[in-house]
Amino acid sequence: MITVPENFKCLGIESSCDETSASVVIGGRTVLSNVIASQIDIHKEFGGVVPEIASRKHVETILPVIDDAMKEAGYSGPDLDIIAVTCGPGLIGALLVGTCAAKGLASVWKKPVIGVNHIEGHILANLIGNPELQPPFISLVVSGGHSHIILVNEDFAYETIARTRDDAAGEAFDKIARKIGLGYPGGPLIDKCAADGDPDAFTFPRTRFPDGSLDFSFSGLKTAALNHINQHDISGCISDFAASFQKAVVSVLVNHTMEAASLRGMNTICVAGGVASNSLLRKMMRDETDKSGLRLYIPESVFCTDNAAMIACAGTYSYLKGNRDGMDLNAFATLSPGAKH
Ligand code: KG4
Ligand code: ZN
Repeated sequence: MITVPENFKCLGIESSCDETSASVVIGGRTVLSNVIASQIDIHKEFGGVVPEIASRKHVETILPVIDDAMKEAGYSGPDLDIIAVTCGPGLIGALLVGTCAAKGLASVWKKPVIGVNHIEGHILANLIGNPELQPPFISLVVSGGHSHIILVNEDFAYETIARTRDDAAGEAFDKIARKIGLGYPGGPLIDKCAADGDPDAFTFPRTRFPDGSLDFSFSGLKTAALNHINQHDISGCISDFAASFQKAVVSVLVNHTMEAASLRGMNTICVAGGVASNSLLRKMMRDETDKSGLRLYIPESVFCTDNAAMIACAGTYSYLKGNRDGMDLNAFATLSPGAKH
């Protein structure tokens, strides 16, 4: 167990994709500020994130966003204990903007800087406002780039139990939403459209590997959906199609997570990442954990999507665990949860 001093102050910085964010968190779990500048409106017209544009936008916004977060928290640089920054995985140019800003401020303010794994950040968003939550627990992390089931042990070490072998869950939502003309980002739009649809109107395949692994694969499901769209006119039943597709993705996520918890004897499940905002995923996880008598945590939506508060939480725990970085901290496009950087 890691105990965080009540007044421990961390500035978190996140710039791994299309959100520039800065946050001040005290005691590892209390958010004093969480400023997020989203670039969604810029990337929308391209149907996805354009890495070069994302990097340039981060350069413009990162210092004003940090300034706002510090002001909102009522602190100045010298008050901080550490600065935590996402160092991977993500878009390399975007990550470099955050890591350079963090190292520059750490050098000026003479504070330690610590690199944080973005996926670990998503997982530890569940600590926010939940002082009683302690590992070990099973976490389902589902976002635009990642779909993992991870066991977080007592010492905040991360063991990957399952990962996707092809597309991430959010990526599958985004691709199908674009194809059926809903727009970008697709997850929230499918979620909304599915509300009026029949989730049993269409049947989609659910992949299970014969080796017994709990790994995910969404490419078969995605291809089946794309084939159906190419061969049939679904314009009169878009919401049924969205609801059925959503149910297929979500039921796989929920079944594998419940099985992982049972296999590893865990009684707490934490769901995280952008897709954790999905209303069906939240409902099905709630129903299944209630049935099995497990505890369930899912952050409120603002802490599911990319944000710096989760990076400050994860940075605080990583630092107190003894991890250290310096001015040679680099950015990494790929980085597994729990991997040393
Ligand atoms: O965690 P996140 O903000 O960024 C990454 O680290 O990727 O996740 C973004 C992903 C996108 O694919 C988006 O479509 C998906 O999360 N998402 C949703 C919902 N809200 C966001 N997917 C399904 N239902 C939602 N309500
Ligand atoms: Zn993310």
